[in-house]
Amino acid sequence: MRQAPAISFSRCDPMQDKASLFIDRVTAQETERILPELASLLHACVHDGASVGFIAPFTMDDAERFWRAKVLPALTSGERVLFIARQAGDLAGSVQLVVDTPPNQPHRTEASKLLVAPVFRRRGIGRALMGALEIEARSLGRSLITLDTRTGDKAEPLYASLGFDVAGVIPGYCRDPFLDRLDATTVMYKRLIS
Ligand SMILES: CC(C)(COP(=O)(O)OP(=O)(O)OC[C@H]1O[C@@H](n2cnc3c(N)ncnc32)[C@H](O)[C@@H]1OP(=O)(O)O)[C@@H](O)C(=O)NCCC(=O)NCCS
Repeated sequence: MRQAPAISFSRCDPMQDKASLFIDRVTAQETERILPELASLLHACVHDGASVGFIAPFTMDDAERFWRAKVLPALTSGERVLFIARQAGDLAGSVQLVVDTPPNQPHRTEASKLLVAPVFRRRGIGRALMGALEIEARSLGRSLITLDTRTGDKAEPLYASLGFDVAGVIPGYCRDPFLDRLDATTVMYKRLIS
């Protein structure tokens, strides 16, 4: 599996204020260095109600454990690629590309845990992160991106606007982070035509 290079490679300025937003692909080493920032990002999103795999109570330690135990090893082994967004130096968002697909799905890849900190939302950062993810998927020769997102969440129109189609809805898929309720998930996909 391909390893991420030592230096982050992707820099694009999709905002009108081009100087202030950077999207970078980060190595495992860099990820370890910014673990507290990544933990704050995840913690803030979950406490804002995001359905990204966690339920309350969700502490900063829980958040840091996720990055350290689940993401770092996968970055080291090359099974995932992590992009972060920085605006004016602050960590504003992140997204992961899962490239560790089974042998019969070498063309597929998965978008995972798109997170934009609540204070940075509606500035085009989510769209920019997904743009970087798609460029990476194409550069790896992948022709299909899949993902799932809680039905009715803000992410759904974002993915639709980027050309993702709905494959279907699975009712009662996951627990709300705070309420005793099961939510549906929408499975989406995008074919990458070269
Ligand atoms: C979903 C999320 C990543 C969007 O990030 P963002 O940086 O605010 O999104 P953008 O500014 O790039 O918005 C892009 C498009 O998404 C849609 N969108 C984003 N936020 C929206 C909202 N609050 N209401 C309706 N549409 C919204 C719009 O179509 C928007 O385009 P527009 O601004 O031209 O109308 C962010 O709200 C988030 O982190 N949510 C919590 C985590 C989560 O649910 N992640 C998805 C996991 S699958």
